[in-house]
Amino acid sequence: MAKPHPPRPADLLAWYDAHRRRLPWRAEPGQRADPYRVWLSETMLQQTTVAAVIPYFHAFVERWPNLASLAAAPRQEVMAAWSGLGYYARARRLHACARHVAERLGGVFPRTPDELARLPGIGPYTAGAIAAIAFGHRAAAIDSHARRIAARLLAIDLPPAAAAPRIRRFVQELVPGDRPGDFAQALMDLGAAVCTPRKPACQACPWQRACAAHRAGRADQLPRPARRRQRPLRHALAFWLRANDGRVLLRLRADNGLLGGMLELPSTPWRQRPWDLDEARRYAPCPGPWRLLAGGVRHVFTHLEVELRLAVLELGEAGCEGIWHRPEGGEPLPLPTMTCKLIRHALAAPPGGRGGRAGRSGPPAGTTAGDGG
Ligand code: ADE
Repeated sequence: MAKPHPPRPADLLAWYDAHRRRLPWRAEPGQRADPYRVWLSETMLQQTTVAAVIPYFHAFVERWPNLASLAAAPRQEVMAAWSGLGYYARARRLHACARHVAERLGGVFPRTPDELARLPGIGPYTAGAIAAIAFGHRAAAIDSHARRIAARLLAIDLPPAAAAPRIRRFVQELVPGDRPGDFAQALMDLGAAVCTPRKPACQACPWQRACAAHRAGRADQLPRPARRRQRPLRHALAFWLRANDGRVLLRLRADNGLLGGMLELPSTPWRQRPWDLDEARRYAPCPGPWRLLAGGVRHVFTHLEVELRLAVLELGEAGCEGIWHRPEGGEPLPLPTMTCKLIRHALAAPPGGRGGRAGRSGPPAGTTAGDGG
C-alpha cells in the first residue's frame, strides 16, 4: 500500500472543481457569493436537506430579493412562506436577524465568525459558513459532513461528544487561506456524494490515501454512531370548529418553543395518555355537540412524536372570538405540517355524524408519518 500522507486541501479543491454541485445559492466559479443568499440558504439548511430547501430558497429570493425587503416584510408573511420547512424558530430568528442587520448595522452583514455568531439564529457552524463562503474568511464550517470526514481521516473511534474537540481543531487547521469558502462547500459535497454515512465510495475520494479509516478497512464503521434515544409519544385532541362560510377557528402558538409563532387548531395539552372526548371537552373553544372523527394523524418531531385525534363541530356562523381562516382557500398562512395534516384529515372526513365512536380512545386508525415541522 502507498505511504499515507496528510490530507491536502488542494486535492479536495481539485475534486471540487470537477464535481461541485450547482446550487441556487452558490456563486459560479470565480464569482463572489452574495452574503444575503449565503445567510438565507445556510439558515434554511440547518437540520434540513438540500432537496427540501431548494424550492423554499427560490420562493424567498423571488419575493424578498435582498435583506432590506425581507426586513420590511411582516413577520407573519415570512412565517407563512416558511410553512412546511419545519423548525420554525429559524424563521423567527431569520426575520429578527434581517431587522437587526437592516436597522442597526446599516444593512451590512459583519464579516467575521465572532461578529456573525452574535446575530439572531447564527450559531458557530452558520457563522463559519457565512464568513468563509461570503467573505473569504479563513473559517471552518463544521457540520455533520465535516465531522464524519474528519472522524474517518483520523480513524477516531469515540462517541460524538468525546470526538468533537479533536475534530474541531483538525478541521480548523485544515482550512486553507486561499478559497476557504470553496473548501467548506467541498467538504459538504464530498460528504453528500462520496464520504457518505453508509457505503462510502472510497475509490472516488481525493483523500483516499490520507484516510486512516480507509487504510484500516473501517471507513464504513466510523464514526461511531450516536446512541439513539427513543422519542416519547404524546397525545392530544384538536378541535375543528367550522362556520358555514368555510372558515375554521385557529389560534396562534406562543413565540417560544415548538412551532412558536405558527397557527394551529385549538387543542388539549399534549400528554402521555390518549384523550377521550369527554375529558377533552373542557379545552374545546366552545360547548356543543362535538363529534370525534375516526382515525387521526401522527407527526414526528426530532425529540417527540405526537398522535392527534380530531373533534369537529359545524357552526352556523363564526360564533366565537378568535382567528378565523379558510385553510384550504389558497391564502398563505403560517401553518406547520402537523396542522396541515389535521386539516387534510378533517377535509377528507365524510360530512355529518359519521366519525368514530364518541369518546373512543386508543391509537388513530389512519396515521401518517411526519417530518419535523
Ligand atoms: N449544507 C449546508 N450548507 C450547504 C451548502 N452551502 N451547500 C450544500 N449543502 C449545504
